[in-house]
Amino acid sequence: MRKIVIAIDGYSACGKSSTAKEVASQLGYSYIDSGAMYRAVTLYFHENYVTVDNPKDVSNALDKINISFVFNERKASSETYLNGLNVEEEIRKMYISNQVSKISAISEVRKSMVSQQRKLGKKKGVVMDGRDIGSNVFPDAELKVFMNAGLEIRAERRQKELLEKDQLVPIPEIEENLLARDKMDSERKENPLVIPDDAYILDTSELTLPEQVEYVLQLATEKM
Ligand code: C5P
Repeated sequence: MRKIVIAIDGYSACGKSSTAKEVASQLGYSYIDSGAMYRAVTLYFHENYVTVDNPKDVSNALDKINISFVFNERKASSETYLNGLNVEEEIRKMYISNQVSKISAISEVRKSMVSQQRKLGKKKGVVMDGRDIGSNVFPDAELKVFMNAGLEIRAERRQKELLEKDQLVPIPEIEENLLARDKMDSERKENPLVIPDDAYILDTSELTLPEQVEYVLQLATEKM
């Protein structure tokens, strides 16, 4: 069986990462969370007071950023490292969610992240999730899935995830963040969130995680 690239895109918090992670694990593929990369950049910019409307400052900062993923055996999950520090927990916090779409719309940021993502997927055998993976990062991906779900369901799922990390965030605040990010991600000039013509569309509102995984695995097997 040949190794393929699986691109999973969609709106915020509709189960892309959980599905992609599990699909990768079952296929023995690597999993790349492209959103985590934009979140890590956002954290760096926040901590280092980077002037986001100054392209030179942005480029200098990007030169100093090294993002990697390390598999945590105990949690059976890969975690995000920024310049050698584990930032997995920090980048999921609401103050990062509230800034990330602004940072990810910056041209220099996108160029740098997209180039790293392409390198990570070069050897195939990868599942990558995000907003522009099938439309821009890997337009030739063998399998593209575009996920969506109702806003209420997405907010409830995100609230549960945050609670597991001891963060209690009210539903209206989560909904507001999801809608704002979807809007900014869809309306930005470069690599906006779009549904690729050749993507399979999956509404996860009424699906369990195993059902979502099964759907993608079935399609993946057909493409291998
Ligand atoms: O996937 P996640 O919700 O963690 O992504 C956080 C943010 O990163 C998105 O709202 C979007 O602004 C940005 N992003 C992006 N392109 C990607 C993945 C994420 O612009 N491929």
